[in-house]
Amino acid sequence: MRFITLGFIFFLMSSTAMAAKGDVALTILYSGNLDGELEPCGCSAEGNLGGIKRRTALLDKYKKNDPSVVIISAGGLISSEGPNDRLKSEYILKAFTHLKYDAIGLQWKDLAYGVDFSVKETLPWVASNWLNDDFQKNRKITRVINGNKVQMQFFSWLDPSQSPTLQMQGKHGDVDGDIKTLAERIAAAKKQGALTILATSLPLDVIKALIPLDTIDLLFERAAYEVYGEPKKVGGALVVQPGSRGMRLGKLSIKVDANNGSINSWEHQVLPMPESVADAPRMSAWYDEYNEKVKQNYLKQVAIRKQHESGDSLFVGEEACKTCHTKVYQVWQESDHAIAYDSLEVVGKSFDPNCLQCHTVGLDQAGGFIDMSITPHLLGVQCESCHGAGKLHVASGGKTPVPNKNWSHQKICGQCHTQPHSPSFKFDQYWPKIKH
Ligand code: HEC
Ligand code: HEC
Ligand code: HEC
Ligand code: HEC
Repeated sequence: MRFITLGFIFFLMSSTAMAAKGDVALTILYSGNLDGELEPCGCSAEGNLGGIKRRTALLDKYKKNDPSVVIISAGGLISSEGPNDRLKSEYILKAFTHLKYDAIGLQWKDLAYGVDFSVKETLPWVASNWLNDDFQKNRKITRVINGNKVQMQFFSWLDPSQSPTLQMQGKHGDVDGDIKTLAERIAAAKKQGALTILATSLPLDVIKALIPLDTIDLLFERAAYEVYGEPKKVGGALVVQPGSRGMRLGKLSIKVDANNGSINSWEHQVLPMPESVADAPRMSAWYDEYNEKVKQNYLKQVAIRKQHESGDSLFVGEEACKTCHTKVYQVWQESDHAIAYDSLEVVGKSFDPNCLQCHTVGLDQAGGFIDMSITPHLLGVQCESCHGAGKLHVASGGKTPVPNKNWSHQKICGQCHTQPHSPSFKFDQYWPKIKH
């Protein structure tokens, strides 16, 4: 009897010792929802946190001290609210190619300028339920620390109900809405002994109802505004919550069981990025180039405005054609072209130059569309979108032909009915709908 008890205790001790031997210390630096904050504005001391140049410096420092550091983002890097956001987003994605992230979860907002825009730079995007192969479905991250191999697998879930293209005609087939497929893939990775990571922009209570948490080791829930949450264990998963706008980075120091990828213990720290974190010199060329582009854009807009104020715009707007071409006008007014600007407002994209280009008259041309309040007569697809600027034609009472008189149908419609935006366009089928 005594012998058995002793034996049992010995067994207990040795199994604890074995587990300790398989424990591997690993550091994960994480972030999420940069939300288009390329740099801090510096308007106030409290607000002067973050920015990509400081982030680079901080990540470089950690990577230098410990090359096995894992760097993860839950995505949401860019934004599309203001007119400068496209350029800013382009440079944010460029910057991330220098930052050596191991995986970045794709959020819907990362697709604001289309898939082609997001994949132009080679980044470790992951979108597990994306249907075609624009993005990786999962990403394996491997580290060997003191002879122990740690395997990680990163997944990310795009909630189909938040898809911005849902509201647009016929375009909602981008993602697999069945979360079971994802749950199975995660379970399979767990079975292989990987440390499983899932990122999604859903809040925790929603995720909990959708997917069993016991196969997920590390779960990124929707970012909080600016401030990082405290990690907590929920249903077996360690749940972390990044803070938005890139002001800070999260640092998780974990002990991983190398045999099954489980997280045995963790410590959490939030690393702020105040002014005292020096900018990474290796990002100065990138930053100068960005600022130069912003300046050029600004000067171009100023020139367009000056032209508008001088009053010598060649675009006159649809009202000016109404008097002489009354019947044609009525036909046009009934067509979808007349409401093309409203369509952008419906989907919240009436600030995006990338969209305005085909949904207004003469964007980025002298005398063309500037914005809703300055040029309200140039909204939507109008007569002058197809026939060219009409001032001289109007002034001459129709004697001077419209500028595009000799353009082919192909050339006129092809300005906007391009393959990505109007895949089923055929002149013979489309023209009858707007014939005048
Ligand atoms: C003052 C009257 C008047 C106004 C205003 C007017 N047009 Fe015309 N338009 C005419 C006349 C007249 C013709 C026929 C010219 C001909 O057959 O020689 C014409 C012809 C056209 C044609 C056929 C091609 C061509 O150039 O002959 C187009 C296209 C056209 N107009 C577009 C427009 C557009 C677009 C506007 C507004 C920007 C406009 N028109 C405003 C009088 C007008
Ligand atoms: C300046 C850009 C532009 C040009 C040029 C243009 N379109 Fe369009 N077209 C649009 C936009 C934008 C819409 C969508 C309008 C909406 O629903 O908001 C559209 C919609 C349409 C529709 C309605 C589609 C539907 O399913 O009902 C037809 C038909 C059409 N265009 C035909 C033509 C034809 C034919 C030409 C050439 C003669 C042409 N368009 C030239 C931008 C353009
Ligand atoms: C190259 C020109 C072009 C650009 C750029 C463009 N569109 Fe369009 N858009 C079109 C055309 C053409 C149609 C009509 C498609 C058709 O019916 O075949 C259209 C149709 C639409 C519609 C109406 C769909 C419906 O349900 O009737 C919406 C909404 C829309 N676009 C939003 C956008 C947004 C948002 C952007 C920017 C991200 C954008 N467009 C950029 C040309 C363009
Ligand atoms: C989406 C492009 C588009 C828009 C918008 C558009 N047109 Fe046209 N329009 C055409 C095309 C293409 C033709 C030539 C059709 C053909 O070849 O039979 C045409 C023909 C005409 C003609 C000549 C008709 C003839 O019998 O010679 C007039 C006039 C005209 N358009 C005026 C207007 C006016 C005014 C508006 C705005 C109220 C307008 N168009 C809007 C594409 C457009």
